[in-house]
Amino acid sequence: MKPTPRQLKEHASRRAQMMQRIGKRGVAVIPGASEVIRARDTHYKFRQDSDFQYLTGFPEPDAIAVLVPGRKQGAFVLFVRPRDAEREIWDGRRAGPDGAMRDYGADQAFELAEFEDRLPELLSGRDHLHYTLGEHAHWDEVLTGSVRQIREVSRRGAAAPVDFIALETTLHEMRLIKSASELKILQRACEISAEAHCLAMRKAAPGVNEWQVAAEIEAHFGRHNMQCGYGSIVGGGENACILHYIENDAPLKDGDLLLIDAGGELDGYTADITRTFPVNGKFSAAQQAVYEIVLEANKRAIKELKVGASSGRPHEVATRILTEGLVDLKLLKGKPKDLIAQGKQRQFYMHGTGHWLGMDVHDVGRYKIEGKPRPFEAGMVMTVEPGLYIAPGTPGVPEKYWGIGIRIEDDVVVTANGPQVLTAGVPKERREIEALMRGAV
Ligand code: GLY
Ligand code: MN
Ligand code: MN
Repeated sequence: MKPTPRQLKEHASRRAQMMQRIGKRGVAVIPGASEVIRARDTHYKFRQDSDFQYLTGFPEPDAIAVLVPGRKQGAFVLFVRPRDAEREIWDGRRAGPDGAMRDYGADQAFELAEFEDRLPELLSGRDHLHYTLGEHAHWDEVLTGSVRQIREVSRRGAAAPVDFIALETTLHEMRLIKSASELKILQRACEISAEAHCLAMRKAAPGVNEWQVAAEIEAHFGRHNMQCGYGSIVGGGENACILHYIENDAPLKDGDLLLIDAGGELDGYTADITRTFPVNGKFSAAQQAVYEIVLEANKRAIKELKVGASSGRPHEVATRILTEGLVDLKLLKGKPKDLIAQGKQRQFYMHGTGHWLGMDVHDVGRYKIEGKPRPFEAGMVMTVEPGLYIAPGTPGVPEKYWGIGIRIEDDVVVTANGPQVLTAGVPKERREIEALMRGAV
């Protein structure tokens, strides 16, 4: 889809900000994504590279953006697929260079085949080449080759870039802080994804298969022109103890819990929600005991997402509460502080408590600056997702806890007024879940 005037404006202002960051001595090269083969001559549904999408809004495969601050002939140069009447009949419309300038705001646009020849002109005289090496083997070679070519003729006056700078410290710092319009999209993605989780709670029952529940969720995304932001995890019983379980092909059993981690992507921004609930609609005493610990960790960790607070705090707080809970349940013995120092809780809690969220489910942005967790800033979005996973047969653990895997994951915006939970549309209180599953709400 072509961008709206408002989107065009936002993309242009992002490019302006990026060019300000890289300065007059810099040049940035940002490749888009290519199609990926699924089977022989058919492809996975195309998804644009997030960095490229963020700066250009250009939706087609095989394109490259070059930002050259202050360049007389134009600072925003796009290389795109050529128009091709035959291919467009088979595969769909192409903007071509003219469309890239007309509809996407490029100052200059060329066919991708010209990229290599035009690159030396775009790079020469610039000191810093902002390009993430190691992501695209082919373009790495083209870029390093071009730099070498300029260097070879440098005695005639053209200066080659002296360093390659990854996009972490420029573009990714921009993407980490979400604008009002990005937050609006993310909020909507979270609302619809929360509805999908509610539908899943209604659908689940003994004998229903995990894939049927996944279908319920994904159909709801489809109704809102969304797709999965990542592979849905729908794990009944001990499948919940496999952190990235995506087989989703087992029947649900009476007495088991069901863990669902699924989020829909809307206009390039994804939600990331996990809920865990009983297949038969009623928590057992053992399930409830573990659930309440995870829920407490989730709620207390969310409170830590405050402007200026350390972004390492949610994990510290969640780890402490989970470890205290494990001691209360007698699954660990000792003082929580000592157990954490020795990493004993990792047997039951082996992942982090959250990650940045945005265009990518594990979004860009550094977690540490100079070795220390960075402070939260308004506009950052983080997941809060504590969990406990008790593998079946764990020695020293009473059998009633075996196979219990629980995670509760919310998406939270850091604001000047405190944490804003985007995923409150799906219940996480035990009584509210049970009421929803009874059909009482
Ligand atoms: N759904 C992946 C994650 O929660 O990080
Ligand atoms: Mn998740
Ligand atoms: Mn997550």
